[in-house]
Amino acid sequence: MKVIFLEEVDSTNEYLKRTEFFHGLCVVAEKQTGGKGRRGKKWISEEGKGLYVSFMFSPISYQIASLSSLAFGVAVLNVLKTLDKRFYLKWPNDIYINGKKISGILPELLSDRLIIGIGINLNYTKDELSFLEVPATSLFAEKIPFDKRNILDKLIVEVEKYYEFLKRKAFNIKEFEKNCPLIGKEVTIIEERKQFDGIALGIDTNGCLVVEVDGRIKRLFSGNVSIRS
Ligand code: BTN
Repeated sequence: MKVIFLEEVDSTNEYLKRTEFFHGLCVVAEKQTGGKGRRGKKWISEEGKGLYVSFMFSPISYQIASLSSLAFGVAVLNVLKTLDKRFYLKWPNDIYINGKKISGILPELLSDRLIIGIGINLNYTKDELSFLEVPATSLFAEKIPFDKRNILDKLIVEVEKYYEFLKRKAFNIKEFEKNCPLIGKEVTIIEERKQFDGIALGIDTNGCLVVEVDGRIKRLFSGNVSIRS
């Protein structure tokens, strides 16, 4: 894997879109001026406060790419679990601890490349994250000691491994399911402006969350799902 370190960039995902195709290129930035989250949201990207990293790989079929959020979620989880066992996954692609989000993944499939953007909150204080829509935290706020370079090194290994799993159609969704506490629970689903309750049964081979709502099976491609309180 070739790694490029940048002091500042608009977004590491955008940088890799502009760059000539190179399978296995990784770009890391100290700061992003236009960090992107999913669904057009911003990703907080202050200098030295987070790990902002993107990877470029050869494209994979749309069907396999639909599993990339899940597979790379497991990759990030494996790295974070070396620091603390309490991290878990929230379908479809967030990593949580103590009910708060610490990391998110933004996969982008282009005709000639797959870009995987990963953000992990490292040094933000609770106050700095308090204005975010979703309750969020950082390794510092959780008092978990870490070494940024070590996280990056482990992440490179895990991301390469899960890309290979995806390509060989060998990613096992059970790895996600067993680290996702939603599965098997009564959940509340918020879809656009609708809200309904159901039971999360599992994740299907396309990466959809399978829920039972009023005795009927529903497959969700995305959405905000939480354990019913
Ligand atoms: C999300 O949970 O909404 C996804 C967040 C993804 C953030 C990372 S930071 C590195 C890469 N560059 C970006 O602009 N976004 C991703």
